[in-house]
Amino acid sequence: MDLPRDIVLAITGASGSAYAVRLAQLLLACEVRLHLVVSHAARQVMQRELGESAPPVGCDPRDWLEFLATVLHRGPSAAWRFRPLPRSPDENARLLLHSLQDYSAGIASGSFRTRGMVICPCSMGTLSAIACGASTNLIQRAADVHLKERRPLILIPRETPLALIALENMARLTQAGATIMPAMPGFYHQPYSIGDLVDFIVGRVCDHLRIDHSLMQRWGEPETPGRIRHPPSAS
Ligand SMILES: Cc1cc2nc3c(=O)[nH]c(=O)nc-3n(C[C@H](O)[C@H](O)[C@H](O)COP(=O)(O)O)c2cc1C
Repeated sequence: MDLPRDIVLAITGASGSAYAVRLAQLLLACEVRLHLVVSHAARQVMQRELGESAPPVGCDPRDWLEFLATVLHRGPSAAWRFRPLPRSPDENARLLLHSLQDYSAGIASGSFRTRGMVICPCSMGTLSAIACGASTNLIQRAADVHLKERRPLILIPRETPLALIALENMARLTQAGATIMPAMPGFYHQPYSIGDLVDFIVGRVCDHLRIDHSLMQRWGEPETPGRIRHPPSAS
């Protein structure tokens, strides 16, 4: 059986909204059907970090598509120099927005097939709720479903330093089958911009979802053809 096209992206209220926006951009550029759920705290963090809040619950998906495609190129993040990604003509049909309390959404049930779920960025609050099986919103419920169905569940936590409780929750989730990928970009690919650092993490997430990309230069591989190098030449 081919891999299902459906991927769940949950955005929670940890710092690092740009990781989520960039990951959504990349998934929409592929043939993925993207199920998006956003926590209330994530909206506050987006406002703070990107200079504007995400479109409201219940809006037309086209508002979200416009937000995702443009927000990193204006406001505070315009200086982070993200490379433009191609947009797909059918992206409108592949973005599904879910409200945080909609437990009747397909992704709340194990019988709905997905390729996996990513929580990016993942707050310590959401991490802890999933570790104890709370399922008090759609993000936590969908994560619980991915664990019980033994499907990929990738968490991108961001906090520093880490309390013992957070470390124990991460160990518990790893034992339950989740993948913990902290937002810890490497520097060995010689990043030039904040965009390069964000793309390093997003690229590693895509690797785990088995999504092809050329977001960053891989260690030990020849330079990706067509990849734009930073800094641009001075001439
Ligand atoms: C600007 C801002 C930055 C935050 N950064 C973090 C963070 O990096 N990690 C974290 O765990 N919580 C962070 N928080 C706190 C969470 O948003 C808060 O614990 C919230 O309850 C998480 O809810 P959620 O998991 O439903 O999104 C931040 C909050 C704000 C307003």
